[in-house]
Amino acid sequence: MPHSVRNEPAEKANVPAHVAIIMDGNGRWAAQRGLPRLEGHRRGVEAVRTVTNAARDLGIRILTLYAFSVENWNRPKAEVGGLMSLLEFYLKQELKTFVKDRVRLRTIGRIDELPAGVQKHLRHTIAETAHFTDYTLVLALNYGSRTEVVDAARAYAAAVAAGREKLNDGSWATFNRYLATADLPDPDLIIRTSGETRLSNFLLLQGAYAELVFTPVLWPDFGKAELVSACAEYARRERRYGLTTDQVKPAPTTTA
Ligand code: IPE
Ligand code: IPE
Ligand code: MG
Repeated sequence: MPHSVRNEPAEKANVPAHVAIIMDGNGRWAAQRGLPRLEGHRRGVEAVRTVTNAARDLGIRILTLYAFSVENWNRPKAEVGGLMSLLEFYLKQELKTFVKDRVRLRTIGRIDELPAGVQKHLRHTIAETAHFTDYTLVLALNYGSRTEVVDAARAYAAAVAAGREKLNDGSWATFNRYLATADLPDPDLIIRTSGETRLSNFLLLQGAYAELVFTPVLWPDFGKAELVSACAEYARRERRYGLTTDQVKPAPTTTA
């Protein structure tokens, strides 16, 4: 991995190619203002728009947003319904912007369990933006790492049974092709807002060597400045992938 030249502005040096965000704190943002939780989610959608643009401006190639977990179905019915309506509304509104800004939309998660209206808009938006190559927005919807692994293991077993894979291959590269993220590079940076310091079933395998940044800022208040600051923190880190510091240090000539 190339390392940052320390004198450059942080947002230019060593930009993470793939940033994944656990967008947390909408409910608390609303509660602090005496508003219904759904108002927090509405403001959360505004933050999604802001951060999607900011990430592109910073040169990030892939932005993955954790929007709804498999565990989130257990919330009160009205909140789940409200979130699904918001999602459908967002997709309807955003298509034009995605096309104008050349944003490719993708999803990870069990999409076929989402309401039919949401699925319809997702499939349409994904098809209309599939040819864009510079910037990808990945929405994690009805996503959880554990269900993802179960789905991948099932698909892998079926491929072995059909003679398309060898059971004794046993390599990560092979199994990785059965994950929802098969064609995406691993996240370089995972950010979680709202002060919680856990992963909540998000990209547990893909994040094996991701840098983690936790911020107390609630998701509706997260904007470009907060993203820049998380990327600056990322640029200060040294990723070692199991090697020694000496092995990963840049050659002395590059730091003149
Ligand atoms: C994140 O905000 C959005 C979703 C999980 C859908 P929360 O709704 O979890 O907000 P808090 O954690 O209750 O503040
Ligand atoms: C994680 O947030 C899921 C999303 C951001 C979509 P939660 O609010 O659901 O996570 P926990 O329950 O606090 O771990
Ligand atoms: Mg939460």
